[in-house]
Amino acid sequence: MRVVSGIQPTGNLHLGNYLGAIRNWVRMQDEMGEGEQCLFFLADLHAISMPHDPAELKKGTLEMAAALVACGIDPAKSILFNQAQVPQHAELQWLLGGTARMGWLNRMTQWKDKAGKNREGQSVALFTYPVLQAADVLLYQATHVPVGEDQKQHLELARDIAQKFNNDFASEDAPVFTLPDPIVPPQAARIMSLRDGAKKMSKSDPSDMSRINLADDADEVMKKVKKAKTDPEPLPSEEKGLADRPEALNLVTIYAALTDKSVDDVLGEFGGEGFGKFKPALGELLVETLRPISERFNGLLEDREALDAILARGASQAREIAVPTLEKTYEALGLVRG
Ligand code: TRP
Repeated sequence: MRVVSGIQPTGNLHLGNYLGAIRNWVRMQDEMGEGEQCLFFLADLHAISMPHDPAELKKGTLEMAAALVACGIDPAKSILFNQAQVPQHAELQWLLGGTARMGWLNRMTQWKDKAGKNREGQSVALFTYPVLQAADVLLYQATHVPVGEDQKQHLELARDIAQKFNNDFASEDAPVFTLPDPIVPPQAARIMSLRDGAKKMSKSDPSDMSRINLADDADEVMKKVKKAKTDPEPLPSEEKGLADRPEALNLVTIYAALTDKSVDDVLGEFGGEGFGKFKPALGELLVETLRPISERFNGLLEDREALDAILARGASQAREIAVPTLEKTYEALGLVRG
């Protein structure tokens, strides 16, 4: 089993990233057996597919690396790195460019959503984004790729590219690439904005009150929870009672995720209570969960050398795994290497 996954270095992690993806990465890391491996990386090469500010990208990459370690990604157990330090990602992307088809990329919903009506004005990198993502996982012969629902289509594309490449350039008994399986973790909670239960918690929301950042201090967390949008009704005793109450459901979902309980279990405890009782309980739980994470996060950000060393070591481990596959790819394509 080899697990590979990436995250865009958008700067500070928030609770939605943590409960939706990162906590699951940490669990996978801690369940790895002998000879199995997890590789987690910051997708900084992907970040240049949209207009970006270089200084912010650099800062975001370092902050995100610190946040991942603070959340429990252990560089002694997992290989943690950023793409830009492993040039094999970009190399393999080019080599796969002969196999990926325009029609396949044209069908990607993320491309259609991000480009909107202005396809001609987009960067080439935005269009070929999924080919780089395929390279990210095929480079390491990934067997499992934990992703959110929105990334499943990109993973299917990676499988299509791998399959076509194997078909066209390898013999059946010696395929070049492993077909990776996407895993969408069932326990990954979908955390919504604290201001609008219909929108995902997001770092791009202009209101900071809409999200809990992993670096928020206790006062900020309590304030955000107390001001979170709700309704005047008391909590029901079963989940179906929250069907038309997205903001209430979101807060209960957060509580359930943090305590590893089901929504029904939480409602068993708080059913009949109003938010005057529930919000302080949720706030305290969040403060307790985030305290050690934000302490580690701030500590790491102050020790730039330690952070650089973690990423450099991760990149060197990643390169070692990547090189044999890349060489096989050049060879299969008939490219002469000295
Ligand atoms: N595109 C992914 C996202 O936006 C990030 C990503 C890049 C990724 N490369 C990857 C995820 C490879 C899984 C595997 O969430």
